[in-house]
Amino acid sequence: MAGQTGEGALWGGRFSSGPDYTLQRLSKSTHFDWRLVPYDLDATAAHARALSSAGHLSSGDLATVLAALETIREDYLADRIQPRESDEDVHGALERILIERVGENLGGSLRAGRSRNDQIATFVRMYARDASRSLRSILLECVRILIQRSEEVGEHAMPGRTHFQHAQPVLVAHYLLAHAWPMIRNIQRIDDWSARNNVSPYGGGALAGGGLGLDPEAIASELGFDGVQPNSLDGTSSRDVVAEFLYIAAQIGLDLSRLAEEIIVYSSAEFSYITLDDAFATGSSMMPQKKNPDIAELARGKSGRLLGNLSGLLTTLKGLPLAYNRDLQEDKEHLFDSVDTLLLVLPAMAGLLSSMSFHLDTMERNATAGFSLATDVADSLVRHGVPFREAHEVVGALVAHCESQGVDLHEVSDADLASISPHLTPAVRSSMTLESSLASKAGRGGTAPKQVASQRAELVALVNSLSEN
Ligand code: ARG
Repeated sequence: MAGQTGEGALWGGRFSSGPDYTLQRLSKSTHFDWRLVPYDLDATAAHARALSSAGHLSSGDLATVLAALETIREDYLADRIQPRESDEDVHGALERILIERVGENLGGSLRAGRSRNDQIATFVRMYARDASRSLRSILLECVRILIQRSEEVGEHAMPGRTHFQHAQPVLVAHYLLAHAWPMIRNIQRIDDWSARNNVSPYGGGALAGGGLGLDPEAIASELGFDGVQPNSLDGTSSRDVVAEFLYIAAQIGLDLSRLAEEIIVYSSAEFSYITLDDAFATGSSMMPQKKNPDIAELARGKSGRLLGNLSGLLTTLKGLPLAYNRDLQEDKEHLFDSVDTLLLVLPAMAGLLSSMSFHLDTMERNATAGFSLATDVADSLVRHGVPFREAHEVVGALVAHCESQGVDLHEVSDADLASISPHLTPAVRSSMTLESSLASKAGRGGTAPKQVASQRAELVALVNSLSEN
């Protein structure tokens, strides 16, 4: 193939030999970029129209090309076409297939006025845009599930923890909704990302812009973009659009890993707060009694590759000069892997969340363990005029007394209370109940039942408004 363009390749005229096998293997991207076919076909159709409008393609040829592109699309969707060994990338493969259908002259004329550099920069944005919509809708579904579950658990309480030690009681509903808010923020991140990045690099050519008078605005709007990138060097070579997407994917994975960790711990025998549904748990090949939380573990584990994809791409981008460099081909596998990973993990987590059962009595019984009402007793002393520093000391002494006697706060006699401190009158007993503890956290964001109900109403309104986008 010396001195000519090889089949499935898009260059060759100035070369005295074809590419070495090692180069071909290294350079090839069809095994991952083949999924971009639908975007390439959309853009090629838009490009053909632009060529025709600018007088470079007759209306008859345009019709022939558009019809051929549709047959290619049908064959792609039905899995009837595949890249060939000789195809360098998705662009080369599609030109080869188009040439097979409309002949070399017409099929080869569509490369005019564009480059794989502006094409790939555009397709990667189109792919990420579609993927973001799928992720967004599964995230919304997860939030709806958490809202639903938070209604089912009523006003039952559970231990709230800091440092994973018993800290203060919280409503189970408050806890469940706490995992919904990060999902909401990730949806909002997707929306911010999309508002900033829905700009087309198409028309940037190889780097300097197209020279054939094609209208980039027309192509952009046909491809669903809000506008055209104002700088072709930047448009063809920037991938912060992908990096930002991978950050959001990593953040989603990271948030899921925290929820997953708690599901793993809380479903263990020591806690028994949660039982996983059989359909969402696995067994052991050796231990017949086992029921394992593999979905949660895989969600936790896969957050590692989501973070890896982000740091991998950032490392590739560091120090790259303008404009396009072949290094940029490395953006896609990270992007595809993060999307594929989340599209596996999120539906499984949604199923896990919606099907697991809560042992509300166990959770509530433990809500006041570990002297978790101690802060409420100190708060009640403050309401009676004791400075908090002193109240903290007094209740600390009360806890020490309870620990040495093996009793809970409310089990201490009036006489013993008084001997610890004159501030500990029988009036403080009203602060030693779960109900009063919960009800007292009545400010915005607190775990008081009324506050949690209004938090849920706020979340429902937000989900409804986000669902309309
Ligand atoms: N496969 C390349 C990528 O993914 C497409 C652009 C190739 N451009 C080039 N000049 N070799 O980035």
